[in-house]
Order: sequence, then structure tokens, then C-alpha cells
Amino acid sequence: MPKKIAVLAGDGIGPEIVAEAIKVLSFLNNDMNLGLVFENALIGGAAYDAFGTPLPQQTLNLCKNADAVLLGAVGGPKWEPLAHAVRPERGLLGIRSELNLFSNLRPAILYPQLVDASTLKPEVVSGLDVMIVRELTGGIYFGQPRGVHVAENGERVGINTKIYSESEIRRIAHSAFKIAQKRHKKLCSVDKANVLEVTELWRQVMTEVGRDYPDVELSHMYVDNAAMQLVRAPKQFDVIVTTNMFGDILSDIAAMLTGSIGMLPSASLDANAKGMYEPIHGSAPDIAGQGTANPLATILSVAMMLRYTFNETAAAERIEQAVNAALDGKVRTADIYSEGMTKVSTSGMGDAVLNALKG
Ligand code: IPM
Ligand code: MG
Repeated sequence: MPKKIAVLAGDGIGPEIVAEAIKVLSFLNNDMNLGLVFENALIGGAAYDAFGTPLPQQTLNLCKNADAVLLGAVGGPKWEPLAHAVRPERGLLGIRSELNLFSNLRPAILYPQLVDASTLKPEVVSGLDVMIVRELTGGIYFGQPRGVHVAENGERVGINTKIYSESEIRRIAHSAFKIAQKRHKKLCSVDKANVLEVTELWRQVMTEVGRDYPDVELSHMYVDNAAMQLVRAPKQFDVIVTTNMFGDILSDIAAMLTGSIGMLPSASLDANAKGMYEPIHGSAPDIAGQGTANPLATILSVAMMLRYTFNETAAAERIEQAVNAALDGKVRTADIYSEGMTKVSTSGMGDAVLNALKG
């Protein structure tokens, strides 16, 4: 049976970075007989322009029938005036929700070659390897009621709801504990339990689930402190588990520790390890079409796909080693450039990874 990958390039730099990831993956597919087949579809603003919706039914069907989804990025200023219901971002949120991709893994690893690209001191970030596990289908991103309405006194009122059921917390907790078991067995659950009842429940359920994982050391931290600790002493963390919105924010912070948000891949998994894989950076409309974007986050997302959905560990490792080799070769896209390096374009970086794979 061929393994089907739905490819959704999306908007902005999405098509440029996805093209490089597909270049790398196609080579491995042939070289290692992985049996992967690719099918493209539209999402986000591109889908809105073509079909009037950011998540057309045929795109959703393709994703449901695929074994994995590779996504570039969605959104851009062109679609900002649109109503929320048809914004490009809704396409992405729709897939996450429709496919039940509740467990979002965002590894922040500092490649030693990029220690000077980080805005933090080398001693603070060198050796950094943190995994953020973000709950992805609940919380304030999806809670009802939501919207903006006019109150009785004529004033406009905006509302979003942060809501988590026990079962939603439990399943992301199990996901995070299992990941911690395979790493350094330290899990920090991030909440705002001093103010928000919903995260008081979060903390209680995390503690309850923790009894099933006596080998993992569980700690709790308030989100404001966690943000501070991530820039003060990020190496204290092994695995962080947190809610949808806190995870959104903390993973951008973690990204910058690694030198550039252009380096961070992600996996969004359902209960059966079916997943969507995407770089955590957005569509970067300011540099779209210039061939300057960093494709490494997308290429590393493909490595995560091989590891988590297809159990092709050897293939995943080959990609990661090739990325390392490309960085050793001193090629850098603009976002990770420093003096003495060779500046390359998006496809130049893709080629460097490909050449390293070819050996
Ligand atoms: C992310 C992004 C998305 C999010 C946006 C594009 C909807 O910021 O994946 O982190 O907020 O989840
Ligand atoms: Mg984000």
C-alpha cells in the first residue's frame, strides 16, 4: 500500500519552503523505497481565492484520507480584512480540529553551528534541547461562546472562552508523559492556576495522570514565570506541556533561543500518530516570493513525519544528519547568517541538504 501524503503549500513563503522539503523527501523516497505518494491541495488564502473558503471540502477529504499532511503556512495581509470565519488561519485550525490533531510537538533544538545566531549568550543556549507539547484542539482557540456583539447598552463586547474538559487534559497529559519517558524524564506543566480555574483543573489532572508515570518528574510553573525562565535559563527544561494559547506563545519564545524561528519544525498528532507536519513560523508575507526564506524548519518537519507517522527512523535520521552537514558546510539563509558564512537562497539551502543526502 502506498503511503499518501497530502501536500498543502498554502500562502506567502509556504510554496517556496514546501518545494524544498518535497525535493528532499522525493529523493529519499526513491533512494530508500519508502513508498510515499504525494497529492497537492489548496488551503488558506490560496483556497479562499479559488473557492471562497480557506478549507475546501476536497482539501479536507484529501487530508482525512491521507496518512500524513505536510503544510507550509497560511495567511497574509491580503486576507486580513476578511471576516474571521473565512480567514486563512481558519483553514489551519479547521484541519487541526477535524483531524483531532490534539498533540502538537514543537522541539526547540540549538544546532551548535548556530550558537552565534541566537540573540542570547552562548552559555545560556548552547546544548539546548527542549520539547514543547502544546494542546492543539481545545482551549481558548475553540471555546464557545466566542465573537463580538453589541451589548444592551450599545457598547461592543468581545468574548472568547478558555475551556478544557478533564478528558482533553488527560489525553494531552498522557502524550506528554510518554514523550518525557523517551527523553530526560522531566515534565513541566505550564498553567495560570493562580488566576484561571480552567488551569487549576489542568494542574490537578496533570498531577493525577502523573501517578501513572512514577519514572517522570513532574513540576508545575505559571506561564509568566515560564516565559521568563525560557529566556533566563532555558536548559532547565526537558519537556513542557501546556494549553493551546500558552503553547503558541511559548513556542515562539523557544524558537528564538535556537537562533531563528526558521529552524523549528512541528508535528500535530492524533491518538493514532496520524499527523500534520509544519514549520512553526508563519507565511512571512514580507519576504514571500524572494527566495530568501529558510526551508530547514519544513525539511525538519518532514523528518518528524518519517519518525512519528511512518516509523522510518533511519530515513528521519538521514535528513537530520544532512541538515547538520549543510550547516557544517557554512551555508546560511539570511535569517541565520553571520559573518564568515556563505549566504544562500531558499533553494540553495534545499540543494545543500540534498547534496549532503547524496553523500
Ligand atoms: C502557530 C500559528 C497558528 C496558531 C496561527 C497561524 C493560527 O501561530 O501554529 O503557532 O496560532 O496556532
Ligand atoms: Mg504561533
